[in-house]
Order: sequence, then C-alpha cells, then structure tokens
Amino acid sequence: MRGFRHFVSAFALSAMAMNAQTTAAAAGTPHLQTKPIPEIVKKDGRYALMVDGAPYLILGAQCHNSSAWPAMLPKVWRAIENLHANTLEIPVYWEQFEPEPGKYDTSVIDTIIDQARERKVRLVLLWFATWKNGSSHYIPLWAKRQPEKFPRIVGKNGRIVDSPSPHSPAALQADRSAFSAFMRHLKQRDTVRTVIMVQVQNEPGSWGSVRDYSPTAEKLFAEPVPEELLKALGTTALAGANWTAAFGPNADEYFHAWSIARFVGQVAAAGKREYPLPMYANAALRDPINPGPASTYESGGPTDNVIGIWKTAAPALDVLAPDIYQGESTRYRKVLELYARPDNPLLVPETGGPAGYPRFFFAALGRGAIGWAPFGLDYTSFSTEPQGMPRMAEEALAPIALNYQMLAPIMREAARLNFEGKLQAVAEEPGQARQTMDFGDWKAVVTFGAGGRNNSANGNPTPIGRALVGRLGENEFLVTVAYGKIAFTSSSGAHTDFLRVEEGRYENGVFKPIRIWNGDETDYGGLSFYAGPQALRVLLGTY
Ligand code: DGJ
Repeated sequence: MRGFRHFVSAFALSAMAMNAQTTAAAAGTPHLQTKPIPEIVKKDGRYALMVDGAPYLILGAQCHNSSAWPAMLPKVWRAIENLHANTLEIPVYWEQFEPEPGKYDTSVIDTIIDQARERKVRLVLLWFATWKNGSSHYIPLWAKRQPEKFPRIVGKNGRIVDSPSPHSPAALQADRSAFSAFMRHLKQRDTVRTVIMVQVQNEPGSWGSVRDYSPTAEKLFAEPVPEELLKALGTTALAGANWTAAFGPNADEYFHAWSIARFVGQVAAAGKREYPLPMYANAALRDPINPGPASTYESGGPTDNVIGIWKTAAPALDVLAPDIYQGESTRYRKVLELYARPDNPLLVPETGGPAGYPRFFFAALGRGAIGWAPFGLDYTSFSTEPQGMPRMAEEALAPIALNYQMLAPIMREAARLNFEGKLQAVAEEPGQARQTMDFGDWKAVVTFGAGGRNNSANGNPTPIGRALVGRLGENEFLVTVAYGKIAFTSSSGAHTDFLRVEEGRYENGVFKPIRIWNGDETDYGGLSFYAGPQALRVLLGTY
C-alpha cells in the first residue's frame, strides 16, 4: 500500500495542489488553467491513474530512441495521429538536458510539451540517464570523460563491463541533481499537466555480469544484508547474515538488484520532492515460464523475481513495469499476471509493434492495466527489432490504431469501470474461438471469427480478436468487440432479450447514440461486430 494515498484523500490532496498551483498560474501563465497533479490511487485492491481528477487510460505509443529531437518530431506526431493514441512516451536525454555540469537546457523538452499541447496529446517522459538498456550511453559527454566518477562495473573475471556502477556516490549525486532540475522545470512549466508520468532510467540492470565485482562492490557484498530488506522479505531470522549466507545462489543477483534499485529510488525520490508526478521503472524481462540463471537476462533490473526487493529499496517508484516483447500468448499473459500485484499497478510501457501484439492490449485491460504502449511507432524508419520490425507504413499501424479507435471514444468510461472492477476484456487465443466474461448474473460470451447463425465460428485465421465489456447498470453493459460477435446469457436460465442496443460515442462523458441495432445486427447469435470500431450500450432483459 506504501506510496499510495487512499482514493478519498486523493481528491483532497489534488484540491490542495490545485490551490497552490492556481497562485503560480496567476503569476505566470494566466491563460492556462491549472489542473490537479496526476497521481496513482488505489481502492479495493485496484488502481487508477488519475489525470485531471478522473481515471485515465494510457492509449500509448513510444517513439524510437533518437526521435525526441525537434527535427524529428513531425514524423512522431504523424504516427501518433494515425494511431489515435492519447499519450506519447518520449525520451528526455540527460546528455542534451545538462550539456555542462549544472547548466540546463530546457529547449527540447519545452518544444515537445508545446507541440503535445497543440495536439491535445499527453506525455510520459523517459529519463534516459545513468541506465539505458543496462548501459550508460546517455550520460553527458563531461561525465563520460570522468570514468573515475562514473565507473562501469567489473565482471567476475576482472574485466570492465559496459554497465554503470550503482556504487558511485558522485554518479548518484550528478544524476539526482539533473533529475531534480528537470522535475523542478516541469513543475513550473506544466501546470496544465500535459506530462502525466515519468519513467526513471530505462531498463536499468546489467548485461554481461550478474553484479559488480569491483573492490567497492566486494566490500559491500561482504556486509550484512540491510535489515529493512530482510524484514520486507519476512526473513528477519537471518539478521546479521551477509548476502551469500542469506540468499545463497541468488545472492549476486539480489545484491545487484538492491544496489541499482537504491540508486534509482534515490533519483526518483529527489525528483518527487520537486514535483510529485507518478514515476516508474521499466524491466527488461526474463522468461516468465523458464527463466534460467541471471546470467542469461539483464540482471539487477525489476524482473519478476526481485519485485519485492525493488519495492523495498525504491518506494518512490509507483510502478514496476514490464517491457513485453514475448509475443507468445502464454508468456505474454504470464507476464501480465506477474506484474499485476496488490502492491503494483499494471502498466505496459513498451511492447511489440504491429505484428501479433495488438490484441494483447485487451488482455492487459482485462488485468486492470492503467496503460499500454507499443515501442518504435514513428516514421523515422529506424528499427532495431531483430526480426525486422515492419517499416512504419500507414497500414502497418492499423492493427494498433484499431485498438485506440475502439477505446478512445470510451476511454474515460473504460478507465472508471476498470477502477471500479466492472470491466472485463479478453484477447483471442490461438485455437480458442470462444471466451466467457463472467459478471455473475450475466455471462458475456464472445465468439471470434465470422460465424453462422448458431455461433459456429472457428476463430480468426490468426488470433486478432479483442473484446471488452463493462457493466453500466443492473442489466446494462458497454460493449466493444473486434473480429467477432458477442452473446449474453442469464444465469437464471431464462432466454436473453436485447431490449435496446444503441451504437454511439461518448462526448464529454455523455453517451450520444448514433443508431439502434436490431435485425441482422442482433439476431444472428449475438451482436455482430464486423464494421470497424463500434461502441454499444446494451440493455438486457429475459423472457
Ligand atoms: C527496449 C528498450 O527499453 C527501448 O529503449 C529500445 O531499446 C527497445 N528495447 C528496442 O527494441
């Protein structure tokens, strides 16, 4: 529960923040209306990302690593628009932000914020600093020239590994100061909350060595495990034990995770003291089913086995978030299960591009996700995907755009229903044409693929189906489906009657009907969704 305020108090605190900010706005930017600071709240075991005081769902896209430069932005915005995304995840480069020690250049971030505002797109900013994919390539030039202050780790064989040491007080101090300056600037610059969340570092951890074996690290490794960690893991009986005695074969990895999480957590905490936006760290995953030893994945990052260590070491982080590039269905769903925890909201800040992945957005929603964003979606035409991610032709974005076309009109309603535990969503699974969403007295049965009158569909040729059902009232549901149809059955055993089926869209939170579905659209074994993004409000009865 730590780090999260209760839902009710959230509104009070938002109101206080609003009052404080109103003064600032009156002094500086009177034309922009100040909004409450975004925050993550928890109620009855579920989470919501509050933006402008109400639950918000990130219909996101992350641009390529080198796209956050003014000259590249037109190619980013064009993709965001074609995707119908409501949020862009985009890096902020430490090397650009602090070109000389203590001198900050806010021009790039200000340009990004201004352009996002013009397009009514929200931002999640990614602080590319000490760690980027386990290395340290984004530290400023002046830092790269001082390896004694910004050391890399040392492998077991004594060779230097291309991964920053978490044990350098000077490096921590430098990153913390820069991040604080950045958050201070955001607070002053963004009273309308275009920026809704910040990622601290990018995929922290190390490839090529499970931990640091430098003399400094060796000394720390021989010391007793911090008591607070033993307490958090429920192993106080081990008090006084060093890492090896306490954790045996996992000692190296746990020590590295603790060390990196402490570093990242202190950077996050310093930034939050300036401006308390929601913050998260993202994980390069290990295989969720057959993980193998830590030497085979990025060690020390918030992988599923060390979430507890990260939570204890870095309480300023609101979320530990999986970057899911494991397109096989069982693995994808396992990752969602591992990260949707009572102590951790589910956010998928990176995932695979178009092929095969879009339907998983619905699997994430079904687990209460507050956001989802595929990686590398812009028109700068650069791809690092090993399998050769398709170049971003307009049609390549279409499967993701369909997700956001389905959700954008109902985004606030879907986010609210998910927070209240009234939303269910599923992705089609290979070889499984039918899935049931159980609401107790009503069951929503989705059948993927084009079926006949008796719902005899065999699924789509490739699993691309998606379905979402939210409970609006006693017998009333919000429904949207792609590539399938949906029927409702009553647990009373009585026949289902579609009393009224309205297609429409939400405008300013109000449902505006466009037409009533009847006849062929409702009579052939359920509600048939074949014509692109459609949202229905369905009133059920029995006879
Ligand atoms: C995951 C990283 O977090 C991204 O910044 C990017 O490097 C992708 N991998 C590349 O596919």
